[in-house]
Amino acid sequence: MKKHKIVWLGMAGLIGLNVSISSAFHPSVYHPRVPESILEEVQEIEDPDPVTAERIEAGKKIYFGKGLCVTCHSKNGKGVRIPGHSPRNFTDAKWQEARTDGELMWILKNGSPGTGMPIRVGKVISEKEGWDVIQFIRTFAPDPLD
Ligand code: HEC
Repeated sequence: MKKHKIVWLGMAGLIGLNVSISSAFHPSVYHPRVPESILEEVQEIEDPDPVTAERIEAGKKIYFGKGLCVTCHSKNGKGVRIPGHSPRNFTDAKWQEARTDGELMWILKNGSPGTGMPIRVGKVISEKEGWDVIQFIRTFAPDPLD
């Protein structure tokens, strides 16, 4: 009896895990990647330091260097073709508008479950480097006056 209960709980856990993985991913690139339950608080998290040209330059070095971002997101930020879900097009102004810096930091810390986007902050780059690379990603947005 007791054993059955443990097996059942284990199975429920597995099913629960599958549900959370598949519901985190959404085919629309504009749909938030951060889970609904924490979305508002994550959206409000801000880069603690003022944005400077030096920081954007540092972020660029991370993007092309140890962050390995360029391998999937490409030199121009539009992304390479990879099997499964494509990397984001960083030059899409509508997408840039849809996300706060806090949401991008969440992605760098958690990856995008159900896609090829890996965890970066805490694994290959520090949180400070993460904020710098986010500021570099913001420079891919086309000028709205163009
Ligand atoms: C192995 C390939 C790969 C690497 C390496 C990679 N990414 Fe991604 N990235 C992806 C994919 C695929 C997506 C699309 C995920 C999705 O649609 O949820 C993505 C999405 C993103 C997003 C958008 C998430 C959103 O909220 O829409 C950001 C920001 C991002 N990556 C930043 C980075 C940065 C910065 C690096 C380097 C430090 C990096 N990525 C490295 C594959 C990669």
